[in-house]
Amino acid sequence: MIDKIENIKTEVTEYGKQIIDSESLESFRLKFLSRKGLLNDLFEDFKNVDKAQKGAMGKALNELKVIAQKLFDAKQELIQKIDSKSESIKDYTLPGRTFNLGSKHLITQALEDINNIFKSIGFKVADGYEIEDEYHNFDALNTPDYHPSRDMQDTFYLKSDGKDKRYLLRTHTSPAQVHIMKSQKPPVRVIIPGKCYRNEAISARSLSMFHQVEGLYVDKNVTFRELKATLDFFAKEIFGKDLKTRLRPSYFPFTEPSAEMDVECYLCKGKGCRICKYTGWLEILGCGMVDPNVFEHVGYDPEEFTGFAFGMGIERTLMIRHGVPDIRMFYENDIRFLKQF
Ligand code: PHE
Repeated sequence: MIDKIENIKTEVTEYGKQIIDSESLESFRLKFLSRKGLLNDLFEDFKNVDKAQKGAMGKALNELKVIAQKLFDAKQELIQKIDSKSESIKDYTLPGRTFNLGSKHLITQALEDINNIFKSIGFKVADGYEIEDEYHNFDALNTPDYHPSRDMQDTFYLKSDGKDKRYLLRTHTSPAQVHIMKSQKPPVRVIIPGKCYRNEAISARSLSMFHQVEGLYVDKNVTFRELKATLDFFAKEIFGKDLKTRLRPSYFPFTEPSAEMDVECYLCKGKGCRICKYTGWLEILGCGMVDPNVFEHVGYDPEEFTGFAFGMGIERTLMIRHGVPDIRMFYENDIRFLKQF
C-alpha cells in the first residue's frame, strides 16, 4: 500500500502542474479530493491494514492528504485572482468612466434664492420646529379650538405625553413667529423656511408635506404699505418683471387685516386656463398685519408695536416659476426632471 500512496503522490504533483483554470481545478478535485476520489479510496483500504503497519501507513496517508489539499487551495486562490481581474478589464479600448456630479435639489435652490432676496433687504434667516404643540401652532396664533383649521382632518396629531399638551406636526411655519417673538424684543425682521404637514388627499396640487417660508417684521410704526412694497419687491425678484401680482382681501386668525397675494398665471398670462381655474391668477402666499391678540400672547405691547407677517408655499411658487404641472414631480426623484434645474 505504501507504493500505492507514493504513486498517487507523484500523480498529484504532476496533475497539479496542469491546473490552469477553474475547469482543470475541478477535475483535480474530483479525481483526488472528492468523496469518490482516489484519496478516499486509500482511506477505505487503510481500514484493512494490519495493526503493525497502521502507524507508518497512517502518517504517509495524512501527508498525502495535506499535500493534495494545499495544492488545491493555492491553485484555487490563484485562479480566483485571475478571474476577477479579467472581469474588470474586459476591453482596453473602452472609454474611461465619467463621474456624475450631484447638484442641489430645486427646493433647496429655491429656499436659498428666497433667503437671499430677503437677506438683501435686511431680514435674518431663523429656524422653527417641525414638531409643535397646540399652543404654538394654534392658540398663540389666535386660533381658538373651534376653528376649522384645528379639525383632525387637516392636522397630524402625535401621541400626547400624558399631560395636557398635545403635540402635532406643524401645519404652517407661523408657530415659529411665536417662538421668535417670545425670545427677542422688537425690532424683529426674520424669515423662517421649513417643512409643514397637512393631512391632505394627495393630488397634482397638494401633498401631505410641503415647504413654506414665513416672514415677520415687527417694530414701531410698521405699516401695511411696507408689507405690500416688500412683497412686490420679492415677487419681481423671483418671477421677473413681466408677471403681475395683486393683493386680495382674505382672513387669517393671526393677522388683521389679512390678504392673499396672487401672481398672474404663468401659462395663460392672465387670460384664464385650466391651471388657474379660468381666473388668470394663482395664489402664492397669505399675509397681513400681526393681530394684537398674538402680541398679547408673546408679551409685546400692541399699543407700542405693529408688524406684518406672511407665509408662502414654496412648491406652489416653483410650479408657477417653472411651469411644473404636478407637485408630486418634486419628490419622485426622477433624474430627467431634476436635471433641468
Ligand atoms: N400660515 C398661513 C398659511 O399657512 C399663511 C400666513 C402666514 C398668513 C403669515 C398670514 C401671515 O396659510
